[in-house]
Amino acid sequence: MCGIFGIVADRESDIGDILVEAGKRLAYRGYDSVGSAVVGADGAIDLRKDVGKIDAVSEALGMRRMRGLRGIAQLRWATFGAPSRANAQPHLDCDGDLVGAHNGNVVNHVMLRRRFVEAGHTVRGDNDGESCVHAVEAHLDAGADMVEAIRRAYADLDGDYAFVITGRGENVLYAIKKGSGLVAGIGDGFTCVSSDLPSLLPLTRDIVRLQDGEIVVLRPDGVEVRRVDTGAVVAREVEAYAGAMDAAEKGGYAHFMLKEIHEQPKVAAELLHLLRDSADVHRVVDIMRSADRLYFVGCGTSYHACLLGAYYWNQIAGRLAIPMLPGQFIEQASASLDPRAAVLFVSQSGETKDVLSALNVARDKAVRLLGMCNVIGSTLMHVTEAYLPLACGYEISVPATKTFMNQALLFHYLARAVAGKDVAALDAVPDLLERAIAETEAPAEAVARRLAGWDSLYYLGYGLTEAIALEGALKLKEITYAHCEGMFSSEFKHGPLSAVFDGFPVVFFTAPGDEAMMTNHVHEVTCRGGHAIAVAEDHAEFRQNVGAYLAVPRSDRMLFPLLATVPAQLVAYHMSLARGLDPDFPRNLSKTLTVD
Ligand code: G6P
Repeated sequence: MCGIFGIVADRESDIGDILVEAGKRLAYRGYDSVGSAVVGADGAIDLRKDVGKIDAVSEALGMRRMRGLRGIAQLRWATFGAPSRANAQPHLDCDGDLVGAHNGNVVNHVMLRRRFVEAGHTVRGDNDGESCVHAVEAHLDAGADMVEAIRRAYADLDGDYAFVITGRGENVLYAIKKGSGLVAGIGDGFTCVSSDLPSLLPLTRDIVRLQDGEIVVLRPDGVEVRRVDTGAVVAREVEAYAGAMDAAEKGGYAHFMLKEIHEQPKVAAELLHLLRDSADVHRVVDIMRSADRLYFVGCGTSYHACLLGAYYWNQIAGRLAIPMLPGQFIEQASASLDPRAAVLFVSQSGETKDVLSALNVARDKAVRLLGMCNVIGSTLMHVTEAYLPLACGYEISVPATKTFMNQALLFHYLARAVAGKDVAALDAVPDLLERAIAETEAPAEAVARRLAGWDSLYYLGYGLTEAIALEGALKLKEITYAHCEGMFSSEFKHGPLSAVFDGFPVVFFTAPGDEAMMTNHVHEVTCRGGHAIAVAEDHAEFRQNVGAYLAVPRSDRMLFPLLATVPAQLVAYHMSLARGLDPDFPRNLSKTLTVD
């Protein structure tokens, strides 16, 4: 969701081009409008913004041709205020002397906006980013200098956000971080700042990581970090970032989603390699082992990984772990937490607001905080005591695929490690995934074509496969816009069975050994005219009971969920295409949800 980028250079150039390219690198986060503001050597502010995709808006408004010394780009995903030109960011202050943009959520915006309107400010839209600019303006008008005005504005603006602002005067850009990702970069003759690290890497690898409650003052020759509360300058090392930077390119695939599905064998192998030499795994395992109560907390796809993780934890390690959504954790678990508990927070992005809210609650209770996430440098990574990376590289497509695969694999690995079982058994996973892709791609496409006309369907799983049924259903909902409910198969007869009529599709994720039990559930559907589709290992007898069969390679039973995930992803992908949709960027959704 919203992404911000700012750059300040020592000479005028076609900075608009840099802003558009940076915006494109942030586009994977999800957005509905685009804006760029550039300040020239004469102090003139050129602001161009509108609703739409970045290529179309930048072309229509000539954004690449904007020239100046410094600039701000923003991609907005609507929360406060409908997608409109006025609500698109960046925003000007009353007189057009300041321009700024934010990422995140100012939760007291409605009250602040009213206060600014009553005080006679020219408020042009309904967006909370505009309140950030007016807040700074109000303190400048009261006589503060820029750093002081931003510090005071920080106190006015409740919520979690990052904010970048500049004015007509000095060639300086200012940014603050409060609960939302922000990282600065230092280049030759310029400095820059962005919501996330990968978007800076094509410009520089000299990185300055920022923490909540800090202001960064960016000048062409360097950055200065200050504490917001005291104003004191903070000594912060410049880090030479050595990590790999996957090109945000489709590499011959029609969509990022398909590319990322095909990358799963490779990223699984990389994760296993990384885990072998990781001291962090031992730390995490020790903390999990010694906790008297263990929670796995995540949202969306990451929550489904938590569900599978809890299954592994129980069946492989013989221990209880409680999978929870962040809101459930806050409402149902927080009051009974004590420091003997441990919470593993799971998030692809490491920035999901719901997850970070639960993390803050857990931190207040002094429990052990653990993290599992894909984005190096994310907030989650910084605030947890021990942290495990997913090692998937950049995941661009909004529907998570390879990051779910590595979350599932990592949970499996941790359960085996805690149980003292040989983790080398997982070395077969990359090859099995390779085969699962090769063997299910064509049948999954055929199933997807058959499903494409249905606006409602069910995905059922039992025990080991429940999480995959839920995850497969989420993939389908995200990118086909059909309603698909994932559930525990034995619950289907307790209500949803009434939905079944001639041809109604129900998909059964059936782990090896569960075929006989699942046959009952299948017949409850088929005897009422329903169309049953199975995802299972090849099983001649079970096959007789269903209308379509997606066979995954034979393996250890505990690996079945990983392999069954592949056809679930492929069915969703091909159904999205069959419906004429773009699976990479589904409407209304955002890859990184930094708001409540
Ligand atoms: C958003 C995305 C989902 C994702 C969820 C959690 O809603 O659209 O695909 O599963 O956030 O994201 P996280 O980064 O915390 O795993």
